[in-house]
Order: sequence, then C-alpha cells, then structure tokens
Amino acid sequence: MITKETIQEIYDVARVEEVVGDFVNLKKRGVNYIGLCPFHNEKTPSFTVSPSKGIYKCFGCGKGGNAVNFVMEHEHYSYPEALKYLADKYNIEIEEEEQTPEQLEQLNEQESLYNISAYAQKYFSKLLFENEEGRAVGLSYLKERDYNEETIKTFQLGYCLDQWEDFTSHAQKNGYKLEFLEKSGLTIVKEDKKFDRFRGRVMFPIHNLTGKVIGFGGRILSSDKSKAKYVNSPESEIYNKSKSLYGIYFARNEIVKQDNCFLVEGYTDVISLYQAGIRNVVASSGTSLTEEQVKLIKRYTPNITILYDGDEAGLKASFRGIDMILEQGMNVKIVLFPEGEDPDSYVRSHRTAETEEFIDQQARDFISFKTGLLSKDAGTDPIKKANVVKEIVKSISRIPDGIYRNFYVKECSSMLDVPEQTLMNELNKNLREKFRQKSRKEETVEVPEAAEYTSEEQITVDPTDTSFQEKEVIRLLLNYGTQEISFEQEDELGRKEEVPVKVAEFIVSDILRDEIEFRDPVYQKIFDEFVQFHEKGEIPEEKHFISFEDKDVSSAAVNLISEPYELSSNWEKHKIYVTTEKDILKNAVSSCILSFKARKVDNLILDIQDKIKESKDDDEMKELLQMQLNLKKVSIEINHQLSRIITK
Ligand code: CTP
Ligand code: MN
Repeated sequence: MITKETIQEIYDVARVEEVVGDFVNLKKRGVNYIGLCPFHNEKTPSFTVSPSKGIYKCFGCGKGGNAVNFVMEHEHYSYPEALKYLADKYNIEIEEEEQTPEQLEQLNEQESLYNISAYAQKYFSKLLFENEEGRAVGLSYLKERDYNEETIKTFQLGYCLDQWEDFTSHAQKNGYKLEFLEKSGLTIVKEDKKFDRFRGRVMFPIHNLTGKVIGFGGRILSSDKSKAKYVNSPESEIYNKSKSLYGIYFARNEIVKQDNCFLVEGYTDVISLYQAGIRNVVASSGTSLTEEQVKLIKRYTPNITILYDGDEAGLKASFRGIDMILEQGMNVKIVLFPEGEDPDSYVRSHRTAETEEFIDQQARDFISFKTGLLSKDAGTDPIKKANVVKEIVKSISRIPDGIYRNFYVKECSSMLDVPEQTLMNELNKNLREKFRQKSRKEETVEVPEAAEYTSEEQITVDPTDTSFQEKEVIRLLLNYGTQEISFEQEDELGRKEEVPVKVAEFIVSDILRDEIEFRDPVYQKIFDEFVQFHEKGEIPEEKHFISFEDKDVSSAAVNLISEPYELSSNWEKHKIYVTTEKDILKNAVSSCILSFKARKVDNLILDIQDKIKESKDDDEMKELLQMQLNLKKVSIEINHQLSRIITK
C-alpha cells in the first residue's frame, strides 16, 4: 500500500500537461493545450488539457480525468501502478506500507505479468554480463554486431542460458508463480514438464510506451536451420502484438522532434540506427503494420518513412498494407535499400551522415514510388497500363484529404502519361463506391449520445427523473462553490440589507435543511464531501474532487468541471436579462435548487398517489390525501418562486 502522504505528493507534483504530453502531441491554445485524442480516432483535435484545472477532457468521446486517470486509461494500469509510474517520472520516493502475503496474492494478472517481465529482463541482462556462457556466447555475439555496452544497457538486452529450465526454476525460487510464468510465455508447460521458451537465445525485451517490459524476442546464435532464428513472446494480458511497436519508448520524443517516424523491419535495425544517432525509429517486428500501430505513430507525427530492405516482389506484396496507412491520413514515404542491405547493415558500414543522406535522397513519396514501379513493369502494353491506372487510383482514393488526392492525380497523370480527366473519372468512381459502402455500414452503427443536455431534452424526460437537476446542483457546487452571492434580508428592525453568502454554503444548508437526498450515489458522495467541509466552515476546492480516490467521483467531477455551466446563454435562451454576473449566478443557484426541490416534491406526490390507489384503510387514506394536499401546496409555492426568479 502506498501511503496517503505519497499519494498526495504525487497529485501535487504531477502536471497533467506533462503527463499527457508524453503520449500525445499537444499544442498550446490559449490557456489550454489541444491534441488528437488518444482514446478514439479523430482528424481534428478535440482533446483538451487544462493545466490550471489539472484535467484532460475529450469533447469527442467524452473521456476525461486527472493525470492519474490518464495513465490508468492510457496504459491500462491499475491505480497503484499509475501512481508508481508518476512517482517514477517525478522522482518521488514511494513510501509503502509493507505488503502482506495476502496482498501479494491479490496482485492481479497484469501486475504479475509486468513483475515477471521486469524480473526476467534483469535476470537475462545479469547473465549476459556476469555468467560465463552469457559472456562467451551472448555478449560476444552482440559485440560482434558492433553494439556497444551503452546500447546493450539502453535496450536492456540479455541472454537466456542454454538449459531446459534455468530461468523458470530461478523465477519460481523467487516467488513467481508457474501460472503467470506460463501466461507470460517465458515458460512452456507441457504435461508435467516445464522449460524455458528462450533457452540459448539473446534476449531483446519489448517495451511499452512507458518503458515497461511487456514481452521478448529471442535470437538463436547457432546456425541450426531447424530452429527459428527469432522466437517471440506470445500475446498476453500485457502484450498485444498488433498494438505494440518495437522501440517506441526510445523513439517517441525524437519522432515528435523530427516530425517523422522511420519504420524498419526488426530489432536489429532499430538498435543499430539508434546507436548511430538516428532515433526516430520503430519496428513492427516481422508482421505487417496494423491499423493500431499506425494510430500509435500518428499520435506523434503524420509522417512515416518506411525503410524497406526487401526485393521488389516483397515490396509489391506490401502495397496493400501501405494503402491502410494512407487511409489513416498519414503521409507515407518509401526508402528502398540496396540489394542485400538492411538498415542495420547499411548504418554499420557507413557513417551516420552518409546514412542520413542516403535516406534523404532515396525517400520517395509512396504514390509516386508505386506509380513508377508498376508503370515500369507495364511498359507500353495498354491493358497492363490500364490496370496500373486502376491500381494507383485505388491507393489515391484511400487518402482522406481531397487536396492531396488532387495533387497526386496531377503527378500520376504526368508520370503515366494519362490525361488527368481519365484519372479523375476513375477516382470519382472509387470514391462513390467507398461512400456507398460507408453509409451502408453507418446505418447499423449506433450514434453516440450527445454529451450535453439541451433544455428540450430536459422537458421530454421522465418526470420522476431528477438526474438533470442533481447534476446541475453538483455542477454549481463544483464550479462556483467558493463564489459569493448576496440575498436581501430583513434584520430585526425590518431594515433590508444585502447579506453575502458563498454559493456552497447556501446550497448545502438549503438542501440539508430540507433533508433532500440525491438519487445518484456519486452525486450524493460529492455532496457529502461538501457537507463535511461545511461543518468545519470550509469549502472543498475543485482539486479535492479531481484527485479523489474513488474513480467514479473524480470522473464525475471532471466532467462537470470541464463543461462549466453556461450561465448567461441559458438565461438568454429563456429571455431573461439580468444585469450583473453576481445576479446571474444568484438566479442560477436559486432556480437550480428550486427545480431540484420541485422534482423531489413531484416524486413524493407520485409516490403518495400510488399508495392512495393501493390503500384499503380509511384512516390511512385520509392521512395520505392530507399529505398529498400539503405537498401540492409546497409544489405550488416552489413553482411560484421559480417563476418569480424567471420573470423578475
Ligand atoms: N525477424 C523476426 N523473425 C525472423 C526473422 C527476422 O522477427 N524469423 C526480425 C527481427 O526483429 C530482426 C529483423 O527481422 O531484427 C531483421 O531480420 P534479419 O536480418 O534476418 O535478422 P538478424 O538478426 O539481423 O540476422 P542477420 O545477422 O542474419 O542479419
Ligand atoms: Mn540482419
């Protein structure tokens, strides 16, 4: 358990814009920052970070929260994991209360897998540097590959001994459960036998965005053709292959700086380029790039340069995959390496500046590259050429931006020596088809509900539903609790005077006096907090709720704070013109409480009417009718007051 003091320190020190900024490319916009939301796919930024409030909020998908919530949501961390991550980022020493064996037991699967992976990485690295076989076989191989010690340490490379279960038994001796060792893929269990998956291999840990080890690649060193050159961890609770990119943790800052991402084939290319100082590099590790991986890159830059080392046939096979990248609105360039060379070998046999110059000169825009390659093959054969046109236009039609599409049509028209209009016609045909498919799909897709209430909605909802009113009360408390309003009061001598009162004091005492309860447990919790502070003569700040441990409370608070009550526009809609900000607030507070009460009373009346229908006892019936009458009077009085505010 992390102590309360440490948790508070983390909340005090963590700056939401810095925490989010590690994952999202943020741009300053007034007092806030905006960027592309990492939680849903969008082309125009609706993701806002407010440093002053300490929160982020996406107006597209509705996700929002504080720095801790962000890390939890984004990295799928548990609460303690997120706190640890932030403590680490801000060099805060974690004071931890000792964990009991039972608590250790409860660590969930994810956490266990992270722990095992971190342990395994350290174990393999230690063997690489300190064990005889590790040094003689593993380390000498890596040195032969020209990796220096700093690089080996940065990438946390290691070695797994060539024995059946050296790693597994060490891990078990250290308290790691076989169940999780198997789930991590490090151990293979077959019937009653168990053995190390990576025995006799050099280990390349795979890191997630925050630098945690989530899986491994292991390279065999013998030239034994019967064994796979690389073995990779299977998917697990923490390792999702289609969502991870090798090297992203080391590359992300540089990708933003360079506003470009190099995509290579594998571990060795990433590491060699990195060592040479070219650091905006990631690899998709063998498989072809997935949509999720492209989205990951797109958070940092819209530009991707594929460093390709295969032959033309292989390259043509990958064209389809590249169309998917275009479809994401990315600008794609291709660099073709000379035959027999990959980025790893090239950078090792050239100076960095030469490699950079080579990449710079070779980089061709994908559409032109594809056009050039295909038209070369087609020669002058008219049928082949027509097919090339179709192929190229198919790629162009995947580009979401019309300006780019037109640009490529022009360029390809001159490259292929085909009239622009011909390409345009084909393009429009494709776009129409695409549109038709899309709208067919969208018919079945549920349209997400709008985040905000409109006053019309408020009228049409179920009359017993108080959620709108409850929300408004809490919203006013959170946003305006510490502001002052004033009410006219008569003193003992009948003199009228303006008495100032804080919004929170007013609302809390008013609701307490009438013993009104919230139906929504989260709002009730927030209100209870206000009551507790109220008893001490204090008012809690926004911060108190935003960093609230109960996630339901903090996210409700974030939602309400980031959608501040549009006082004036609401009032204007109802043709109410008030003079000062203070009056507006006063009216908002009064009418909000009154409508809340009106709803509550209406609910009570409905309850009583139900009881009256069921009642068989005369006395009881009388009593109920009397109660109903009283409540109706109250209701009329409340509505009177309400209309007085509105027509004043
Ligand atoms: N790769 C892989 N699985 C394989 C082969 C390759 O995942 N079976 C990936 C690895 O990430 C590797 C990259 O592709 O880093 C490059 O492949 P290759 O050049 O064959 O691997 P190297 O280890 O560089 O082998 P060599 O020393 O023969 O160049
Ligand atoms: Mn290689």
